[in-house]
Formats: sequence, C-alpha cells, structure tokens
Amino acid sequence: MLSEKDSFAGVNVPVCVGDVEKIGKSLLPRAALDYYKSGAGEEVTLSMNREAFRREENTEKYVLIPSDPKSLSCSSEGAVTHLGKKNPLVQSTPTEFHGIVLRININTFPMLPPKTLGGLSVALCPNWVGISHLNIEFRIYRLRIRPRILRDVSRRDLTSTVLGKRVAVPFGVSPTAMHRMAHPDGEVATARGKLNQQITGMTEAAEKVGAVFILSTLSTSSLEEVAEGAPNATKWFQLYIYKKRDLTRDLVARAEKLGYEALVLTVDAPVFGIRWADARNKFSLPPHLRLANFIGSDESQGVRNRGKKGSQLQAYVTELFDQSLTWKDIGWLKSVTKLPLILKGILTKEDTEEALKYDVAGIMVSNHGARQVDGFPATIEALPEILKAVNNRCDVYLDGGVTQGTDVFKALALGAKMVFVGRPAIWGLAYNGEDGVKSVLEFIKNELDFTMALTGCATLEDIKPEMVVPASYYSLL
Ligand SMILES: Cc1cc2nc3c(=O)[nH]c(=O)nc-3n(C[C@H](O)[C@H](O)[C@H](O)COP(=O)(O)O)c2cc1C
Repeated sequence: MLSEKDSFAGVNVPVCVGDVEKIGKSLLPRAALDYYKSGAGEEVTLSMNREAFRREENTEKYVLIPSDPKSLSCSSEGAVTHLGKKNPLVQSTPTEFHGIVLRININTFPMLPPKTLGGLSVALCPNWVGISHLNIEFRIYRLRIRPRILRDVSRRDLTSTVLGKRVAVPFGVSPTAMHRMAHPDGEVATARGKLNQQITGMTEAAEKVGAVFILSTLSTSSLEEVAEGAPNATKWFQLYIYKKRDLTRDLVARAEKLGYEALVLTVDAPVFGIRWADARNKFSLPPHLRLANFIGSDESQGVRNRGKKGSQLQAYVTELFDQSLTWKDIGWLKSVTKLPLILKGILTKEDTEEALKYDVAGIMVSNHGARQVDGFPATIEALPEILKAVNNRCDVYLDGGVTQGTDVFKALALGAKMVFVGRPAIWGLAYNGEDGVKSVLEFIKNELDFTMALTGCATLEDIKPEMVVPASYYSLL
C-alpha cells in the first residue's frame, strides 16, 4: 500500500534519485529548499556538474503565447496541438505561461536567431501573438560507456578499500551543513524521550548501506551525537579553519578522540560564494536550531542576526573563517593531528602539486556543489587533469552532480577512487529521514551493480579507463 509520501509531487513509488529529489524538494520550506539547492550566480556550473555526466540534445526554449489560449490542447501523451494541428518540427509541452514552451533542436535549426524563429513560428501558427526566449539548454551526451560482454558477472563485488579500510560501496555522503532544516533527525540518530523510539538520520543510513559519511563542521548535530548515534559507520570529519585556532584545534581533537577516521579540510571556501536566492531570502538558521559543534559559544548561534542585508550564513563565514590561510596552514594542521588528511575543493594541477608536497592522503575534486563561483568547470571535467598530476601518489575522490550509478561508474572508470553525493542525500532526508537517505544510497548502489553486470565488470578493478569515452569518440566515425 502506498503511503501519503509515496504519492507526493506526482511520484508514486520512487525508483531513482530523481524521484526522491522531486518529493524531497516539494516537502521543504522555501528558504531551506533555496539554501540546499542553490549554486552561485546564474547556476551554469551547477547544471554543468550534472549534465557533464550525460544528456543528449542541444535545445533552445521559447515560450509562444497564442492569441486564444483555448486554441491549445494537449493529448494524453502530452503532445501539444494548436487549432488541432501538431507542429512536426518542434517538441512542445504546455506550460503555466498559458503558452507553449518550444524545445527547438539546435541541431535542426543551427543558427536561427530569435527574430527569424519568431517569424517562422508565426508563419507556422498565425494565431500566436508573442514569443519570448526562455533559455538555451546544452545537452550533450558527454561521456559514453563502452561495455564488454561475456565475462562472468554472476558474482559481483562492489567493495573497495579506502584509507586502508574496507567499505561496502565506492561512494559516500559529502559534507553538507545543517541537516535538521531538512528533517528533525538531522545528521544523527537521536533517542526520543518518553516514547523511547529510535529516530535515525543520515549517518545511520550511510552506516546501513556501508557508505562513508562525512560530517560537516556546520552540522546541526554534534560530532559526539553522530559518533554515538552511528558507532559503526565509517565517519570522516570535514573541517573549516576558524580565525580562532583554539576552537579549530578543539574540533580536530574531538574528531580524533571520537573515532572519525579522516579529516577533510575544505580548501575552497575562504568566503562563501554569492548565492542569489539566499541573499534574497536573507537566509538564516531557524531559531530552534544551532550549529551543534559550538554549543555554548557565539559560533553556534551565529547564523542569524549578523546584519540587515543578505545571507546570514555568508556573513557568518566572512566574519569567522580564516581568510588568510595558505599552504603553510596545511603544515600546521598536520602537526596537530594524526588523522589522514584529505583536501576538498582542488580543481587544478598546480594546486595538486602543492598538496602532494604536504603528503596528503587524498584530494577531493570538488567545486563545492557549484556554490562558490559560477564558471568553475564541472568536476568530472576537472578530474582528468588532477589524476594526471597525482599520478597515483594519493587517492583522488570526486563530488558534484552525481545522482546515478552510471555517474559513479564513469568517475571510477576515469580514475577516481571514491565518489560522493551532497544534495541527493539531503533530498532523501527531506523525503523520509533515514529511510529516505537509505533509498537514495541504495538506488545508486543498485544502479552501479547493474551497470557493472551489463559492462562485464565483476569487481571495481574491472572498470577500466577505456570503458568511458567522450562523445567525440563516436562522432568521429
Ligand atoms: C546545502 C549544502 C551545504 C554544503 N555544506 C558544505 C559544508 O558544510 N562543507 C563542505 O565542505 N561542503 C559543503 N557543501 C558542498 C558539498 O560537500 C559537496 O561538495 C557538493 O554538495 C557536491 O555536489 P552535489 O550536491 O551535486 O552532490 C555543501 C553543499 C550543499 C548543497
């Protein structure tokens, strides 16, 4: 039987991360949704992160406004007709604009300027009175998979070894801040007083699927709560370096003492990027929530009341994070911890070379979910440059835009050791707490498993670089 949640947002039973995303987004309050989903600026990098893994055609979108909206109709298959006629040249869908969004295939109309298009459209359908350009979508199937066959895939093994530890799947959950805005259980399992009912959060979901979980410094459940709530999860701690070094050192010491197995230092955020939706919403942490790692100090209360303008989180970061960091501080961090160090947010070979001088255990190729500067490359595009510079001297991980098992497969084939997801886990949490996150991770695991079966890979070692090629490989034939 379907529960109410199962039929939310037009989705019955979710079967993929995209379904969970639709439901999760429909359940979140506006400011929280904007915070979780936003990228910097016009969000070009944000769409590239996802689309660089796949997508097919190049399209331009226009809205055509008919003089008489009643002249439009929509068939049960979703095809739009005008005065009973279907336009064979365009695919179209009805919209809330009382017009038709046209998806024009740029390959069919290569150089059509909007004016000509307007003329053409009006010529095709004389009763259309207006046209406005919505946007251009570039959808190029960038990476293609070259499968192998007949290689006995009857027993498949998705396990991997990362930083010396066996993990069930070669992917994990990236650090994202403030999970309790998405669901009261937030980052951790919490015992609910009288009812004595276990409430579980994102870490426990990761624990059950066997995926690495990275806790954010800016979490709404503390290092201690998460350690206690999910003792068996493979947990890493993501660190931001504050101007107050004692406070930073304390975070590191707590992580180490509590059994977190690596430190993930985020190196791409001396300040936070300009995210327009957060600025418009004057984003602040809801009053009932705290940054749980700092209870008792200003750093816990601080994501509110920091000024009249803009995102309060951005103001918090600008004021409290150490913007003067240099490579020397990596040396300092290494001197205060024995934990393996991963640098998160490297996008160039030059910085890779620097990082290797400090003997880091891993590099996470990340553009912070496209939240810092619009115009950064998609992470899967930056990956080969980093891998080449690393030349097997440390682990290389990737996050950004991963939503399917085939994305994981592609990143692994190109040479990443592990892949991480940020927003997908949040959509799962918003949808259904621990179970929602678990479904997200299981969808990805299942898709990876099937992709391996269908490409002749019984183990992760069988996923070879020659199995993923750019689209140009085929278009040159
Ligand atoms: C809502 C949100 C909060 C984030 N918070 C943090 C954070 O606290 N620390 C950090 O290093 N990265 C943070 N990131 C970046 C993620 O770790 C990760 O790089 C990104 O989400 C990956 O892209 P994806 O969301 O497309 O999977 C955040 C990203 C999002 C979307």
